[in-house]
Amino acid sequence: MAQSITILGLESSCDETAAALVRGVPGSKGNILSSIVFDQQDLHKSFGGVVPEIAARAHAEKIDVSVMQALDAAQMTLAEVDAIAVTAGPGLIGGVMSGVMCAKGLAAATGKPLYGINHLAGHALTPRLTNGTPFPYLMLLVSGGHCQFLLAHGPNNFSRLGGTIDDAPGEAFDKVARLLGLPQPGGPSVEKQAVGGDPKRFKFPRPLLDRPDCDLSFSGLKTAVLRARDAIIAEKGGLSRQDQSDISASFQEAVADVLAKKAQRALLGYLDAHPAVRSFCVAGGVAANTAIRQRLQVLAQQHDTQFIAPPLALCTDNAAMIAFAALDQMSDREPDGMTLAARPRWPLDQAAPAMLGSGKKGAKA
Ligand code: KG4
Ligand code: ZN
Repeated sequence: MAQSITILGLESSCDETAAALVRGVPGSKGNILSSIVFDQQDLHKSFGGVVPEIAARAHAEKIDVSVMQALDAAQMTLAEVDAIAVTAGPGLIGGVMSGVMCAKGLAAATGKPLYGINHLAGHALTPRLTNGTPFPYLMLLVSGGHCQFLLAHGPNNFSRLGGTIDDAPGEAFDKVARLLGLPQPGGPSVEKQAVGGDPKRFKFPRPLLDRPDCDLSFSGLKTAVLRARDAIIAEKGGLSRQDQSDISASFQEAVADVLAKKAQRALLGYLDAHPAVRSFCVAGGVAANTAIRQRLQVLAQQHDTQFIAPPLALCTDNAAMIAFAALDQMSDREPDGMTLAARPRWPLDQAAPAMLGSGKKGAKA
């Protein structure tokens, strides 16, 4: 029987500083021994977005604390770890560098192998960590920083079917919350406000649905919400709670429509090429939205496809997915040496054309 391996993972590419220990046999699902996440929401909230300099400083302060807490929580020492994995990109460069420098220090001090991991691969391999999902599967990454459809062929082999050409949907939720005077992060507050709202009152655009591809766009939708809000304020002098709810519900329905329609296109392409496998997975903070999740789940059911949505703590940024990605990839690649570099941009599918958007949380690759 193959030997179990324990990996220490580090993540610091955006606004979460995280460390985790994951144990498993390469090629099988993983066992999370500990997972520590420090979020920076309080530090950034008055700026309306992530401030890279503040993020980098906070990562530098917390990364070693997160490693110590992850070891403590798993009741392990560094000597018992078999390898070290770290997000080496894409993301905000100051944060990625904090993680990479810390991981290099740990690898140099202990002589353990070091694996630089693509953050998007971490998200995309999460269904294998939680469910052992076999390849190939269709993946929708949908968060404040990412929005893309991927075909996962292997732990190191992804092709991108399409993605956002401007903002990520989570950014649009956050912006709409700001426009309506709702608290951040915007996704959960817009979802809450949408309860009791009329999703048909505002006819917000469904961008790019006329194009026969899997690309998406959310910046025009944000502008449409701004115009609707300003029209109400001009007419009545302010927004009532019902206005807030109707805008939230109409906006949420527009996002759900666009994601479901483009997901259908991606799913049909995937099923055409791989009719025997039939797994559709989602990850990212926006996948927590009940209305959106339900639409995607129904779509999968309609096409006789298994729908896999990891628990929320593993949908959002964490280091367990980074540790697991190293475990999943290690039979397929060599470790990195001390020359491992932090990469602000690092597309998962090197053959796909670069995406245009960069957004508040950095490059989408
Ligand atoms: O994956 P995540 O934690 O971080 C990255 O962006 O990498 O996603 C956070 C994003 C935020 O923009 C937040 O507003 C959005 O996910 N979000 C939601 C919901 N919960 C979080 N969007 C819509 N509905 C939700 N319930
Ligand atoms: Zn992420």
